[in-house]
Amino acid sequence: MAKKIWIVLFISFLIYSASVYTNCDKKAETALNKEVKKGWDVWQAKNCQSCHQVYGLGGYMGPDLTNTASEKGPEYMKGFIKYGTGRMPNYHLNDDEIESLLAFLTWVDKSGRSAVPEKAVHWTGTYIIDDK
Ligand code: HEC
Repeated sequence: MAKKIWIVLFISFLIYSASVYTNCDKKAETALNKEVKKGWDVWQAKNCQSCHQVYGLGGYMGPDLTNTASEKGPEYMKGFIKYGTGRMPNYHLNDDEIESLLAFLTWVDKSGRSAVPEKAVHWTGTYIIDDK
């Protein structure tokens, strides 16, 4: 009798494992290509994170940039990065560096939402991914 329970438990474990590993959200996978890596290097070299946050981590002088790419768009961001403002420094970056930074920030944006809206939290505690 006890042996049967172990067999049932073991089979349940296998079925559960298979379902967990096959239900991965394929859309959430984002490639870390060369352009993104270059942008990440510029991001670090210029220490953008000293004033900006990604997922709430970083400095608080400028806004969180996790989802700026989808919320405001790369053209909007380009203006700030290219010219700076009274409060944000102008780093005199060339177009290549700016494009890489935008690729990096677009990649960051695809990794998830920084601020989780209340309606996106399922009653089980999991997070409902918005497919837009
Ligand atoms: C000295 C602090 C500081 C640093 C360093 C800094 N920023 Fe900013 N950034 C700001 C501030 C402050 C704002 C808001 C500007 C304003 O409204 O005048 C801003 C705005 C922005 C915006 C527009 C965001 C929005 O939602 O309006 C982007 C994009 C941006 N910065 C990108 C960058 C990148 C990329 C770097 C690194 C190359 C960087 N920043 C470095 C302070 C900084």
